[in-house]
Amino acid sequence: MRLLKRSLLAALLALPCLARAADLPVRYTVQEKQLKAAIAGTSLTFELFRDPACTTTAVHSTSVLIENVTFITKIKQFTPKGDTKLPSTDELAVTLSGVSAGGNLYLKVTGTGVVPVGGACQAQAAAVSEVVQRIVSRHGRLDILVNNAAVEERRSILATTLEDVERVMRINFGGMVNCTLAALPIMVRQGFGRIVNVSSAVGRSPVPGEAAYGASKAAMIAFSESISYELEPRGVRVQVLFPGYVATTGMARQARRDGQALPPRWVHRTAEQVSRAVLRALDAGGFEINVAPLETLAPIVRAVAPKIYRRAIVRTQPLP
Ligand SMILES: NC(=O)c1ccc[n+]([C@@H]2O[C@H](COP(=O)([O-])OP(=O)(O)OC[C@H]3O[C@@H](n4cnc5c(N)ncnc54)[C@H](OP(=O)(O)O)[C@@H]3O)[C@@H](O)[C@H]2O)c1
Repeated sequence: MRLLKRSLLAALLALPCLARAADLPVRYTVQEKQLKAAIAGTSLTFELFRDPACTTTAVHSTSVLIENVTFITKIKQFTPKGDTKLPSTDELAVTLSGVSAGGNLYLKVTGTGVVPVGGACQAQAAAVSEVVQRIVSRHGRLDILVNNAAVEERRSILATTLEDVERVMRINFGGMVNCTLAALPIMVRQGFGRIVNVSSAVGRSPVPGEAAYGASKAAMIAFSESISYELEPRGVRVQVLFPGYVATTGMARQARRDGQALPPRWVHRTAEQVSRAVLRALDAGGFEINVAPLETLAPIVRAVAPKIYRRAIVRTQPLP
């Protein structure tokens, strides 16, 4: 599960680079959480393309073992191992030798734990299917996928860029789609599978300052409901989890640091309560797993008394 949770990690800035020499030094940024899960012994593939979308045939391709990729800023030589603490942001450098193409080139890096941050050339699907393949070859099957990873960015829409929204959508929605598509072939072949997508009340009753986060969770709900109809007859159950408010998580701690209003007590739940609810619902539950059922009142009140609902939101939710 940790691998799946972490399978969307990592880093790269697709950079246009001018290359006429035989050796092409390449640098790209990496962040702690993004490489932590990359497994020592696996390799990164560097491919160079002439087009910014990286859709043509690669003009150059090199695979480099993670051990051989050098940290150039804070650590001179780095060999990732399990839980090694990495600096929060750093640069990696590698030299691609034998590059003969001239003109602008665009770099794409793929491999376990590699997800591009910005830039044109992005490829993460291969990395996730590799993780699924590894689980299947080790355990013979894959029964449960929980799409949990997410980021929350609370900010005014006036301070939000397209890149901010794309990043949140890519991690929260794109990551879920990516893992789901990778897991489905094996689950359908088995005739059994459980997919739990961790959403949020904000996805069905949005609040100010959470446009991107709310949109990513709403997209997750729609995607999940649509595929659930098709997959249920094949033995694969897709469910959406609404965990309520869990105060002990990183996201909740960050929200408190940001001065975000606390949700009412009656939607507070512990991580244990959420886990138990998920386990109970895996076989018996319906499409929605509502750990704090009173949350479901919000969209109902909005539908029957929209003015009252709106006034309540304005009164209780401070603007960012
Ligand atoms: N806490 C709540 O009250 C609440 C309410 C509603 C919904 N949720 C949902 O519950 C889920 C878990 O959130 P949480 O509250 O437990 O917060 P959390 O502690 O911050 O967990 C978020 C997880 O997502 C991972 N993650 C973030 N960006 C990632 C990326 N690019 N690639 C891979 N993994 C990434 C984080 O990894 P790192 O540990 O490396 O940072 C972390 O493990 C989320 O989907 C959230 O939307 C939470």
